[in-house]
Amino acid sequence: MSQYKLLTPGPLTTTKTVKEQMFNDRCTWDEEYKNLTQSIRKKLLEIGNADENNFTTVLQQGSGSFVVESVLQTALSDDDHILIICNGAYGERMIKMVQKLNKSMTPVYLPYNDIPNINELKKIINNDKSITHIAFVHCETTTGILNPIEELCEIAKESKVKIIVDAMSSFGGIPINIKSLDIDYLISSANKCIQGVPGFGFVIAKRETLKLCEGNANSVSLDLYDQWLNMDVDGKWRFTSPTHVVGAFKQAIIELEEEGGVEERNKRYQRNNNYIINEMKKIGFEPFIKTEVQSPIITTFLYPNELFEFNRFYEFMKKHNFILYPGKLLDTPSFRIGNIGDLHRNDFDLMIELIKLYQIEVGE
Ligand SMILES: Cc1ncc(COP(=O)(O)O)c(C=O)c1O
Repeated sequence: MSQYKLLTPGPLTTTKTVKEQMFNDRCTWDEEYKNLTQSIRKKLLEIGNADENNFTTVLQQGSGSFVVESVLQTALSDDDHILIICNGAYGERMIKMVQKLNKSMTPVYLPYNDIPNINELKKIINNDKSITHIAFVHCETTTGILNPIEELCEIAKESKVKIIVDAMSSFGGIPINIKSLDIDYLISSANKCIQGVPGFGFVIAKRETLKLCEGNANSVSLDLYDQWLNMDVDGKWRFTSPTHVVGAFKQAIIELEEEGGVEERNKRYQRNNNYIINEMKKIGFEPFIKTEVQSPIITTFLYPNELFEFNRFYEFMKKHNFILYPGKLLDTPSFRIGNIGDLHRNDFDLMIELIKLYQIEVGE
């Protein structure tokens, strides 16, 4: 099978050394494995600038959505009321989850290329004292828009509202100071900016907040509180743990540190993202998101003309071992290029050359 370069934001292109860790079988009962889990939990706190006295990490089996749902299940009691900001598919998914839970909610819908207006949000929160939580997506992978995490956390803090951040596609690739932002729950997964493989996600939660959540969840497997209590004893997961994925994730953390930590990884992502956007503009592709709010993770490009056919473009790029990502905009034809993962300038040089070749060969 070809070794594709995935221009998709998770699963993404991983290093050979991360993949090699999955050749080892590991035993969940063994001290060595439980210690591995504990060391990962600790490392994630460091990556998020969260101190161990006030914060804890809970690892949770499943894809990112399972972890988001476990937080919403566990964080909200029957008396709570959550405001959810939605400027993309992942905000919409949180809304759907809370609807299923039948909990009190104020959804705030925005166009997909717009970030929230802080003063308007302040008004909504101040006018409704029943709001207890705010949830938002940091980097909306739907488009690549970056929501203003500092301002959003600031207004939540002022109003003593608890904060849930879906940082699925930003944690590890954009510096986030969980302690100073006073975030209650930050969610991410193994197969995004830490550059591991899919199979579990994690929550960095404020201990004081999580302690209050006993009995909230209506699900056994998605009860984050129960998962925490069990894992906190000695690193043993409730239920079967994705051992191969966990082994690969530890290696991915080592490689993040070797790169120079989140700051350096962020610089690489930013450099490559700028390069892609500049080069794509030169050959007729315009980004959907304004530069000021464009994340360094993934970019949505509009079709360059009416002749352009994404499927043909996709197959051409795939033949040359690059996997692109379709767009997720409902009414505007688009596609996406993710630049996270083990991808470097030479990969993007080649990608741009191939796109130019496609334009010459196909005439689109
Ligand atoms: C911001 C964000 N939230 C949630 C999810 C859902 O994660 P998953 O597809 O792993 O369930 C994703 C997936 O890409 C995402 O980017």
